[in-house]
Amino acid sequence: MAKITTLKLQEMKEKGEKISMTTAYDYPTAVLVEKAGIEIILVGDSLMMAVMGDDSTVSCTVDQMIYHIKPVVLGAPTPLIVGDMPFGSYNESKEQAVRNATRLMKEGRCDVVKLEGGKEVADIVKAIVDAGIPVMGHIGLTPQTVSKLGGFKVQGKGDKAKEVLEDALAIQEAGAFSIVLECIPDQLGKLITEKLRIPTIGIGGGRYTDGQVLVFHDMVGLFDKFVPKFVKQYLNLTPEIVKALETFKEEVKAGKFPEEKHTFGGVTEEELERLY
Ligand code: KIV
Repeated sequence: MAKITTLKLQEMKEKGEKISMTTAYDYPTAVLVEKAGIEIILVGDSLMMAVMGDDSTVSCTVDQMIYHIKPVVLGAPTPLIVGDMPFGSYNESKEQAVRNATRLMKEGRCDVVKLEGGKEVADIVKAIVDAGIPVMGHIGLTPQTVSKLGGFKVQGKGDKAKEVLEDALAIQEAGAFSIVLECIPDQLGKLITEKLRIPTIGIGGGRYTDGQVLVFHDMVGLFDKFVPKFVKQYLNLTPEIVKALETFKEEVKAGKFPEEKHTFGGVTEEELERLY
């Protein structure tokens, strides 16, 4: 398969072909996602919760993102690789935003960046795009500002729907090539998807968005703190892995592992006798 580009994603929207996207934070996961033919990999700041044990994404740094983007790029040459801009790495000024987006591209080698927010970050999105870096927006539930939103809650209900639509339009007008819609009503996801020229990618954004994204660890059952309503677990790896670890422990204790086939030769009987 040819390398996925922003133009390819635009064509997919126009043809009504759905887009798949998942997270990866390391080389082996990137290899799996590449093999599955998924079009987009997000190296998301969700890594703080999925693999670093934190209870929010707020503490993520640009250096951590670069560290995790690098092996993903090596493991997955085909998908479009999205580097997430962490909280506090783009809100101070357009200069700060362009500088950090440039670092993700130059040092991490991702293809595009993603940042959270609506109207209030439109000028920042424009500055990054003007610097030659494609931007994916992210509106609705924005985990980096979960304290301001009062928790991980569905956004855009009732008369708040208009604000989310306005955010989507502002991010498109600022030059974003695509936008993530997180935790909004099904029908609002449909409306925004129909109104926008650019592809929408939903996570709890309903059935009608142009694509869907799930956090890898959620969909394979490797995150057991909680399972959000929008997650489908395609696999439940945790009990399988725990079972394998328990069997390893039992075999070590019983002297069943390693077997002869797992060992190395190379010392002759005579040498051994001398050593004894
Ligand atoms: O960091 C992340 O994984 C994300 C997804 C929830 C879209 O931003």
